[in-house]
Order: sequence, then structure tokens, then C-alpha cells
Amino acid sequence: EKGGYDHFMLKEIFEQPTTIADSLRGRLVLNEQKIILSGVDAIQDKLANARRIIIVACGTSWHAGLVAEYVIEELCRVNVEVEYASEFRYRNPVISSDDVIIAISQSGETADTLVALERAKEQGATIFGIVNVVGSSIARISHAGCYTHAGPEIGVASTKAYTAQLAVLMLFALKLAKAKGTISDERFNELCQELNDIPEKVQWVLENEVDNIKAIAYKYKDARDVLYLGRGYNFPTALEGALKLKEISYIHAEGYPAAEMKHGPIALVDEELPVVFIASKDAYHEKIVSNIQEIKARKGMVISVMTQGDEVTPTISNDVMVVPEADEVIAPLLTVVPLQLLSYYIGVYRGLDVDKPRNLAKSVTVE
Ligand code: F6R
Repeated sequence: EKGGYDHFMLKEIFEQPTTIADSLRGRLVLNEQKIILSGVDAIQDKLANARRIIIVACGTSWHAGLVAEYVIEELCRVNVEVEYASEFRYRNPVISSDDVIIAISQSGETADTLVALERAKEQGATIFGIVNVVGSSIARISHAGCYTHAGPEIGVASTKAYTAQLAVLMLFALKLAKAKGTISDERFNELCQELNDIPEKVQWVLENEVDNIKAIAYKYKDARDVLYLGRGYNFPTALEGALKLKEISYIHAEGYPAAEMKHGPIALVDEELPVVFIASKDAYHEKIVSNIQEIKARKGMVISVMTQGDEVTPTISNDVMVVPEADEVIAPLLTVVPLQLLSYYIGVYRGLDVDKPRNLAKSVTVE
């Protein structure tokens, strides 16, 4: 049932070229330059007139929501807020019938998310569910939605569900942007093509980087703390990388926006501290390079996720994990993959049960 892999987590990481493609299939219609999402059509007027979009989720799904905030605001020019479901449900938020709520959940059963949606629905908001498990509670409470087609996820740490969520959120953003007229045809086509190419780029990482990442994992497996830093579209990737490491290896890890480092966390940096930078080529690349230099100047050890062909990043990093070039908007689907593998192999080298980390449950149905 693990298909020849040692663990479900590894199998699920390797399934991603397929599960991302499955989540795009029949929806991204390249030759007609359109995106088919009947759930979006069903609430088209609500979406076109939405005062804001509020994304509600927990854990890894919340990280997918953060990526979506950057993408939807950029492409659709609508205000997006991302909420931890547990905070949102208890704080008496101001919600109206002009709000559209996007709920993101792999299991569709997360209690905090479900109750937050019930409250918002009572106050007149429209609920759009992005859920993996068909017929689950969150799918049923939603007015409309779009399933991720990741297939059953067995490993407790979410991997393929996360990239499937990102794929669907990218489709959502592109479709809404086109409907609102906030994206040029040229940019729309370019991003559709980029999205279409993502499965094979993920495949490239799986075929070419695993031995390198294993060696890096072995080298850093005894770290006590690890810092993950990224900017822009890849700031949420830093949070997700840190969460994966915590869950799987029990190493303390924190994700931060790279520029926030100097407001506190930089005090942690010494020759013992590995710092993972998500440094793929994007509009912020020069800024990330100077953040890496700040860490090096304090003798921190730098591990960078970088774009193939980047000649600068290897000269200032102790270790690098390479991904193919991708548009910055779409890149979070790709840059997370080396971080999933890094956490997996560190967990394995530490002799831990990576499929069932202590204290964690696959579906959190209690608050
Ligand atoms: C992390 C992880 C959790 C879940 C969170 C939400 O690897 O699996 O953080 O993402 O419990 O679960 P869902 O998406 O089922 O609502």
C-alpha cells in the first residue's frame, strides 16, 4: 500500500506531480485560454462584488491561505484577510453578506474551521470550500467550492494536500482576475502556462535533488533549532518548511519573513544555527541575497532553496537545494518540495516515526 516507499509521507511527496496535475485537469483549459471552476461560477456575483475575501483555515492549510492572500491581492485587486479558524471563531469578527469566506481544509472535518464557518454563515457570508475529502462536513456546509484532487493523504504531515490546495487557489485567483478584468490576457496566458508546467518541474526536483537533499539532511540532523526565512510569495513557504520540520523531526523551527529577522530573531544566529532561505529568483531576490549575507556575517550556516542557474546564491550558501525556474506567483508550488524532503529525511535519520509523529492526529475534530 506504500507502493514500494518506506513511508506514506515519502510516497505522498513523490505523488505530487500527479496530484497537482489531477487538481488542474479539466479545469485549466490551455488551448481555450480559460479556467473551468463551476463552484466559482455558482457564486460569481458574490465574488465580483465581494468587499473582501476572508480565508479561514488551520495549520498547513492556513499556510496555503497565506500564499493565496499574496496571489489574489496581486491578481484580483481585492482585499484578502487570512485567519486562523480558532481565533476567528472566538473573537466576534465583523462579517457581512458582502464577505466571501474561503475555507481550506484537507480533511474537511477540522472542528475549529467548521465552527468558524457556521458562525460566518449565520451572519450572511458566502462560503467557498477548498476541501480534499469528498462529502466531508466542511464540503457540505459550503455554498460552493472546489475539491482538491490529492487523493487520500495518510501521512499525518500534510504534503500533497498542500500543493493541491495551492494549485486550486491559483486557478481560483486566475479565474477571478479574468472575470474582474484585473489581469491582462498576456499575463493570464503566461501564468496558466506556468501552472501547467509545474508538475514536470516538481518531477525534476524529485528526480535530480533527492540525493543532495539526503546529504544535507544528514549533515543537519542534530540541529537544535532551525530558522526558515523567505519574502513575498515565499514567506508562507518559510512557515510551512518550519512546520514540517517541527512535526517530523521534533527540532524547534521557526519561519519568519526574511526582513523581520533584524527585528529580533537575528539575536539567535551563531555558528550552530542552520538558516534555511527560500531564495528562488523573484522580484525580491537581491533583498534575499543581502539577508543571506547578514546571516553569513554572523557565522550562521545557510541552506538555500535556489533557482537553477543562479550563480550568486551558491557562493554565499553552505548548501543549496535547486529548483527549476518558475514565475514567482506560481513558485510556492515548487519551492516547498525540497523542504518537505528535507524534513522527511531528517526525521528518518533521527529514527522517528515520520508517518505518525507523536501527539499529532490526522484530523483534528476537537477544539
Ligand atoms: C500539518 C498538518 C496540520 C493540518 C491542520 C488542518 O502538516 O497536517 O497542520 O494542516 O490540522 O487540517 P485540515 O486541512 O484537514 O483542516
